[in-house]
Amino acid sequence: MNLQKEIIRVTSEYFEDNIDWLKLSNASKEYKNILEELCGQNMDNEEGRSDIGFENGKALGAFWAALCLDDLVRTRQFIRGINEAIKEKINVKKPLHILYAGTGPFATLILPFILRYSKLDIKYTFLEINPLSFKIVQDVISKLGLDEYDITFAKKDATKYQIDSKNEPDIIISETMQNALAKEQQVPIFLNLMRQVNNETIFIPEKIELFIGLKKAGSPMDVPQANQYREAEMVFEVSKESMFPSETSKTQITKEVSFKKSKL
Ligand SMILES: C[S@@+](CC[C@H](N)C(=O)[O-])C[C@H]1O[C@@H](n2cnc3c(N)ncnc32)[C@H](O)[C@@H]1O
Repeated sequence: MNLQKEIIRVTSEYFEDNIDWLKLSNASKEYKNILEELCGQNMDNEEGRSDIGFENGKALGAFWAALCLDDLVRTRQFIRGINEAIKEKINVKKPLHILYAGTGPFATLILPFILRYSKLDIKYTFLEINPLSFKIVQDVISKLGLDEYDITFAKKDATKYQIDSKNEPDIIISETMQNALAKEQQVPIFLNLMRQVNNETIFIPEKIELFIGLKKAGSPMDVPQANQYREAEMVFEVSKESMFPSETSKTQITKEVSFKKSKL
């Protein structure tokens, strides 16, 4: 079986404009099976399940990071967002540079693109802080026969990573928002990276907003659901618009990030 072709076939469902839940769910299962087989390593053990603690949050254990693929809507949205960003940039600059902060063991969100674009069109930087995920993702790339591609692997903390100003990324991707930002470090990661690039760089996700939500009357008390709350006040936004006040230069980003007090 040609695994590259199989991944292209299976992941094509994420690019369909209309959602067919059964097909999407089957595609996701097939994609995961291929990746698990490729990886050939049992991550369901103490090492695989261990998160790594940092001052601002955790980095998920490899086992948990691999499970993220199962979130159909998340995976589909990210892949479609990355697709839009690449389409916007690919005819403007070659090679494009994509920085992926927090690849997990499979580089799930970017593999569909590595396999769809020529190695001359896009170069990649893969950041991953979890040593097991870092080891596995290199293995997966190698087993897929992608050693010739321009991929820089860095076992670094993305909240502190220093971007080489001569090699700035055009697109920056990170999905480190486990448990609605409560657990992982999406916000400090994006703040660190946004401070180092110009406002031409596309971030996926484009915007992160944090709201105070007030519970709607009559909602059950047991398991909280987003639709039981109404957005009362936005306390925080991380986006290019909020970080780059008016002009284009990164040197203008001096703004300290703080939470305003709410009168609610
Ligand atoms: C929620 S998982 C997502 C994995 C994969 N990108 C996906 O979408 O399926 C987040 C990944 O980011 C990594 N990570 C979290 N914080 C990080 C940090 N500060 N620097 C580098 N990697 C980080 C975790 O180890 C984990 O592998």
